[in-house]
Amino acid sequence: MHVGDKHYRTIWLNDDGKSVDIIDQRWLPHEFRIETLGTVDQVATAIRDMWVRGAPLIGATAAYGVAIQMTVDPSDAALDRVWQQLHETRPTAINLRWALDDMRKVLRPLPAGERVAAAYRRVAEIADEDVEINRSIGRSGLEIIKKIAARKKPGEPVNILTHCNAGWLATVDYGTATAPIYLAKEAGIPVHVYVDETRPRNQGAQLTAWELGGDGVPHTLVVDNAGGHLMQRGMVDMVIVGTDRTTADGDVCNKIGTYLKALAAHDNGVPFYVGLPSPTIDWTVRDGVSEIPIEERSADEVSLVQGRGPDGKTVTVRISPENTGAANPAFDVTPARLVTGLITERGVCEASPEGLLKLFPERAGR
Ligand code: MRU
Repeated sequence: MHVGDKHYRTIWLNDDGKSVDIIDQRWLPHEFRIETLGTVDQVATAIRDMWVRGAPLIGATAAYGVAIQMTVDPSDAALDRVWQQLHETRPTAINLRWALDDMRKVLRPLPAGERVAAAYRRVAEIADEDVEINRSIGRSGLEIIKKIAARKKPGEPVNILTHCNAGWLATVDYGTATAPIYLAKEAGIPVHVYVDETRPRNQGAQLTAWELGGDGVPHTLVVDNAGGHLMQRGMVDMVIVGTDRTTADGDVCNKIGTYLKALAAHDNGVPFYVGLPSPTIDWTVRDGVSEIPIEERSADEVSLVQGRGPDGKTVTVRISPENTGAANPAFDVTPARLVTGLITERGVCEASPEGLLKLFPERAGR
């Protein structure tokens, strides 16, 4: 997508042909900073401390980490070590394990001397595939938006509510939940997005709002608690969110607060869709509530808030008493029964084992 006049992906190979450059998301929307990650430790820090974030982007970043490791030590032992080190950075988004497994599967059969070139080839493919997947999600989601638009008065926008950031910053490009929105805008369909601020880290306020604004998509920032009210008043035509891990039965794990939006959508008859790239499907688990590990992040993310001070500098302020403890579960699970449809790169399906297997028949019986 574009930042000013320049096209950016969120991650790309540095000119040295070895390190990886990323947009450092900790400083957005007020500062646009690019960082170069040259070691596996730097890659691990960038994922753990959320310089990069969003399930597909975490996966792509980890794949670059494996490639960097190969330039230092391409042995089997080093391959296993880097898999372990990067796998421990964030527990919930399954794309991390998907990308690490994929890299190991490609590299393991090769002689050590061929691993560096093969690793950089594969990581470039993973990045390109992510972009293609998101464009396909966009095309399928566009059809849903078109149908809603057809029921509206001419010129009246389709109002879409989204949670967290499942935009281009969460992926290599385009985004999952936002791809249909960008394509709708390109197609001339009036859209308007309600952006949940997404406490505690405010990915909606800081990232999604910045992204949509950069692309000229009309949007309004709302506090996380506003969604139910907006839906009761008929102000939301559909919800689209992303996902960090979706089970073989269609349970959707996503940023904390998603479940409450799904409940409100269900109660108000508002369709609730999920942008789901296939690397985010965890075919090894069925019941999301009991089987998906939920990341518990630092209490500081709840007690402290980051923003821009009057002098233009980024500042962090405390909003709760010093001695008040805080819990910070980072994700929740929306049961499949609350999901209207999963928008994948192969089309839209019901959130159920049958629905997913219809689109991914090669997974049957596995
Ligand atoms: O903790 P984050 O910011 O990495 O979590 C990301 C999300 O939960 C996004 O909403 C998301 O949909 C998954 S990425 C497309």
